Amino acid sequence: DWTMAAFREKAIADIRAQVGTGRVICGLSGGVDSSVAAILIHEAIGAQLTCIFVDHGLMRQNEASEVVSMFRDHYNIPLVHVEAQDLFIDALEGEMDPEVKRKTIGRLFIETFEAEAKKLGGAEFLAQGTLYPDVIESVSFTGGPSVTIKSHHNVGGLPERMNMKLVEPLRELFKDEVRVLGRELGLPESFVGRHPFPGPGLAIRCPGGITREKLDILRQADAIYLDEIRKAGLYDVIWQAFAVLLPVQTVGVMGDGRTYEFVCALRAVTSVDGMTADFYHYDMEFLGNAATRIINEVRGINRVVYDVTSKPPGTIEWE
Ligand code: XMP
Repeated sequence: DWTMAAFREKAIADIRAQVGTGRVICGLSGGVDSSVAAILIHEAIGAQLTCIFVDHGLMRQNEASEVVSMFRDHYNIPLVHVEAQDLFIDALEGEMDPEVKRKTIGRLFIETFEAEAKKLGGAEFLAQGTLYPDVIESVSFTGGPSVTIKSHHNVGGLPERMNMKLVEPLRELFKDEVRVLGRELGLPESFVGRHPFPGPGLAIRCPGGITREKLDILRQADAIYLDEIRKAGLYDVIWQAFAVLLPVQTVGVMGDGRTYEFVCALRAVTSVDGMTADFYHYDMEFLGNAATRIINEVRGINRVVYDVTSKPPGTIEWE
């Protein structure tokens, strides 16, 4: 019968068979999926693997340094840290279309990986933490006609012409199974339990055009929101929670002054696999406190709303 220990053994054998003596680079995003993929592949092929963490400037607060220190210091897995903030943000600035944003990010990821592979003397393989739902959702909408809902950057968003072959050892797994595998591989619980975070990062949580300033505002609001969630003991009950910065300014009043600032939407969902989701039913007191803190502490936001849309008909992310 099927166990995660057996899956791990088979996955390791399959990775060895696929890559032989080839060099593999693995794109790390800081999330559970790519981390589990990297640790599994490292177990299979050791020094043939180099991890690449591309900081696209679309990470949450402190996320980049947490990822780098976890791999370098805790796991001792070689990691190249690429500072590509300007490359990504300059390319995205002014772009309003969600699919173009996703495809631009996917293309820049690949170009960055290829450039890094070259510096390492070439790599035949690119590893990713693609899961089963990523594969399905990028291809077609379950039960419906074959339309792309959104191009997840680690599947459909990749350029067709890429000179590396893909290694995707988690392609048959769902998120809850990846977490079991992560525990099996000895990842700390605090890491295994992390909420999912999309490859395109905060770019798809700033609907419309992004700017450095908007990303900065969003990062602050998101950090406060998650801090409140942790303090209330709700982090592990919720599948995923985040702030979205809307491209809308509204009028408010603060002290004796008029304000005209952005609206922040808060999102929280429960789910089993990300394919369907229910909005989380907070009590109003929690929401009121989180909203007050965000408005008081973040310059640039004067109104907070809560998203009560489930999936379907909404998706979890706003773009
Ligand atoms: P949606 O918004 O499609 O999201 O309901 C379902 C889950 O997938 C995550 N997501 C992504 N993950 N690359 C990723 O690695 C992506 O491009 C991407 N887009 C969405 C999303 O955060 C949610 O957990």
